[in-house]
Amino acid sequence: MDSILVRGNGPLNGVIPIAGAKNACLTLMPATLLSEGPLTLTNAPRLSDIRTMTTLLQSLGAEVSSLQDGKVLAMSSHNLSNLTADYDIVRKMRASFLVLGPMLARAGQAVVSLPGGCAIGARPVDLHLMAMEALGADLELREGYVHAKAPKGLTGAVIEFPFVSVGATENAVMAATLAKGTTVLRRAAREPEIVDLVRCLRKMGAQIEGEGTDTITIEGVDRLTGATHPVVTDRIELGTYMLAPAICGGEVEFLGGRIDLVSAFCEKLDAAGVSVEETERGLKVKRRNGRVSAVDVVTEPFPGFPTDLQAQMMALLCTAEGVSVLEEKIFENRFMHAPELLRMGARIEVHGGQATVTGVEKLRGARVMATDLRASVSLILAALAAEGETVVSRVYHLDRGYERVEEKLGACGALIERVSG
Ligand code: UD1
Repeated sequence: MDSILVRGNGPLNGVIPIAGAKNACLTLMPATLLSEGPLTLTNAPRLSDIRTMTTLLQSLGAEVSSLQDGKVLAMSSHNLSNLTADYDIVRKMRASFLVLGPMLARAGQAVVSLPGGCAIGARPVDLHLMAMEALGADLELREGYVHAKAPKGLTGAVIEFPFVSVGATENAVMAATLAKGTTVLRRAAREPEIVDLVRCLRKMGAQIEGEGTDTITIEGVDRLTGATHPVVTDRIELGTYMLAPAICGGEVEFLGGRIDLVSAFCEKLDAAGVSVEETERGLKVKRRNGRVSAVDVVTEPFPGFPTDLQAQMMALLCTAEGVSVLEEKIFENRFMHAPELLRMGARIEVHGGQATVTGVEKLRGARVMATDLRASVSLILAALAAEGETVVSRVYHLDRGYERVEEKLGACGALIERVSG
């Protein structure tokens, strides 16, 4: 199993290109199942999660070709030869569940494995199932699989989600594009990845309004066509790397960065003493003074502070002057990075969904273990600012969501290498 070796090495300076969003790509890819026409995604990120979705779509009969070194995904779902999403693929990645809505809408039936447990909490799929039932599907749970049927097709409905779910909104939007009549989704997720999905579906001929607000209205159509669509910038990769000059000093420009994707995060950076400036090519980040100041953070659905940046923000706050409180409101059990950061000399106390972080002047290198995708990169950020050497093991988590981490940080002067074994 590979590990990443980091030697803390002072300020970072340079330019980091930001890739297309993993989470947008993972919902855009299943949209191919809605149409016989070809769907081509440009600006795709090169990640193991994208390869997992490729394998899943291919298992269903879709053709997926990775072109231009993986930056372009050319897909076509002329025939859906298999309508079962197998446990062996779905258990690797929860986003696999996003094939349910499209398959059901196009073929009138689908069998999808339940995703099962996950390191950052129980993460059920009840809202996805509620939405499919509201659209007229008959559901049965047997042997770990959801068996969904709508022999006469889906029918539009008003669906009010009890709370915001990104995945359930995506599944419902895709399913409703081919349903008969009008669907209204209330308390819909407003994430940029949803906006990106809707823009792509619209190019495919779908009739949708209200993306980016909490009410999305979909007028069902008989069929969708092919389209070509560029994947939106990855706001989580962007926010993660913006923390590198914040934690180490120096000045880094992020190509493709957009403030509107990370505004709540930028407000917290500003309060901590980190300046973010818009440039012609993206965003430029540097610390205003020496050490950053403590800030309190509460994770919320978009446009609030993203849960997917909580672990990385904690790494920064471990080195801040003063006491910060981080409250995790989206997932239970999402502080697994805290005990690893403690091994690096951090001072953190976790009580339920709250972590209190007392900043220390210096973190120290240590052997640590990645426990999930965002936790793994928070340890790398901490390591960049630590004295001595850090070895982060189990980096397969990292490869799910970050392409070429060593290259991107190395180009700005970080001493970081991958050790195979
Ligand atoms: C997506 C993102 C993930 C991010 C999360 C929240 C993808 C591939 N992943 O995950 O990186 O951390 O949004 O921004 O886009 N829930 C239920 N029942 C459901 C669905 C969700 O109880 O049927 C709960 C979850 O356990 C969680 C909360 O709702 O506590 C929000 O989850 P959701 O927004 O659905 O996250 P995902 O779409 O899985």
